[in-house]
Amino acid sequence: MKILVIGATGTIGRAVVEELAQRHEVIAAAKSKAELLVDITDERSIRALLDSIGKLDALVATTGNVHFGPLARMTADEFKIGLHDKLLGQVQLALLGQHYLNDRGSITLTSGILSHDPIVNGASASAVNGAIESFVKAAALELQRGIRINVVSPSVLTESLTTYGEFFRGFESVPAVRVARAFSKSIEGGQTGQVYRVL
Ligand SMILES: NC(=O)c1ccc[n+]([C@@H]2O[C@H](COP(=O)([O-])OP(=O)(O)OC[C@H]3O[C@@H](n4cnc5c(N)ncnc54)[C@H](OP(=O)(O)O)[C@@H]3O)[C@@H](O)[C@H]2O)c1
Repeated sequence: MKILVIGATGTIGRAVVEELAQRHEVIAAAKSKAELLVDITDERSIRALLDSIGKLDALVATTGNVHFGPLARMTADEFKIGLHDKLLGQVQLALLGQHYLNDRGSITLTSGILSHDPIVNGASASAVNGAIESFVKAAALELQRGIRINVVSPSVLTESLTTYGEFFRGFESVPAVRVARAFSKSIEGGQTGQVYRVL
């Protein structure tokens, strides 16, 4: 399969590339430090990347930024960061990317545990992750030509505990290699409309 991974240089993306590259042609893209550059918040940038690659069997997003902070001080502009970046960015990838996929191709997005297991300072992240998961369930009903869509929703990564650990007290962390296997299941399996919770 020819698989495009956007966010390929990140903590999750690196593990996904390592898992999939054993069996497939993987094209790695990221925002600032990769062979292929793309900004998922910019529709023209996504189109330019997809045009430069041509037909694909799988499109993967392991990226998306959101604002974390106390609700009492949260502004609409801060809330919009996650809407424009993690939510709309991945939705745009799916909307544009469906037309570049071969028959029976797949789209796999990334959300996160906060959609159903919230933390303090995480109202924006919970809303965005929940919206991505709802989008995927509904989009699966309409995608044509056997194209599938799923979302991977991991707990905090073990590799990220040094950065986020204090916000996730009491949560079980998951290693990136386990998260990567959920992407493998989405791409190499047959399911669609699924939320793969890696807990
Ligand atoms: N880490 C965790 O514990 C965890 C847990 C659950 C869910 N998640 C979710 O998983 C996703 C990835 O997390 P991560 O920890 O792997 O992130 P990360 O290590 O910060 O990596 C982010 C990746 O996305 C790329 N990127 C950033 N902004 C982009 C943009 N506008 N357009 C295209 N690419 C962009 C980065 O490229 P550059 O480096 O070139 O900028 C990098 O390759 C996020 O949505 C996060 O919320 C993470």
